[in-house]
Amino acid sequence: MSAVIVAIDGPSGTGKSSTSKAVAEAMGLSYLDTGAQYRAITWWMLSNGVPADDAEAVAAAAAKPVIDSGTDPAAPTIAVDGTDASGPIRSKEVTAAVSSVSAVPEVRSRITALQRAIAAEAPGGIVVEGRDIGTTVLPDADLKIFLTASPEARASRRSGELKGKDATDLSATREALIKRDAADSGRKTSPLKKADDAVEVDTTELTLEQVVECVVTLVEQAA
Ligand code: C5P
Repeated sequence: MSAVIVAIDGPSGTGKSSTSKAVAEAMGLSYLDTGAQYRAITWWMLSNGVPADDAEAVAAAAAKPVIDSGTDPAAPTIAVDGTDASGPIRSKEVTAAVSSVSAVPEVRSRITALQRAIAAEAPGGIVVEGRDIGTTVLPDADLKIFLTASPEARASRRSGELKGKDATDLSATREALIKRDAADSGRKTSPLKKADDAVEVDTTELTLEQVVECVVTLVEQAA
């Protein structure tokens, strides 16, 4: 199989990360979590006193943090200025601030360039997951998938993931998800959007194994 590029986009809680990692592992491909990169730059802003809702200040600082993404699907890593940031980027504070930071064009152009370089250097091909991969980052991807699921399914999956970390109830999770998706879909620069040539997969009634099987088949057909 030649170096195949797979773009997997969709809102939060659709199973993007689990699916993307499992597909990459099953097919011997690299893996890139672009949400982790936006979370990493957001964590840097918060840690360095840059207010996430001050677009000018965020734009001015956008080039400063050094972000390194590991692309092994079995053990993805993210480091900021040489420090492992895998834990802190999942905090409530980062999750609440990431949509404001990721809407800033200077942040997007910097992270997009990083993503394209990583995809170009992936030896055997890569699965890249995010919001704008099929539309903006890798418009020539060999396969574009857009994952969806009902708001209830997404909120209950997210609550399951957060169990033991945050006492978040289902309705609060649902509200937060809807708010973040609205911000991600409504921003001016590369909003969350299905590419015209993406295959839409509704995961509401599917198990992770079924979604993975479906995507693996699509990758085999596209390669
Ligand atoms: O995927 P995850 O929920 O970790 O993404 C966190 C945030 O990063 C999203 O809510 C969105 O604001 C931003 N993001 C983005 N473009 C991407 C991936 C993530 O704007 N390609």
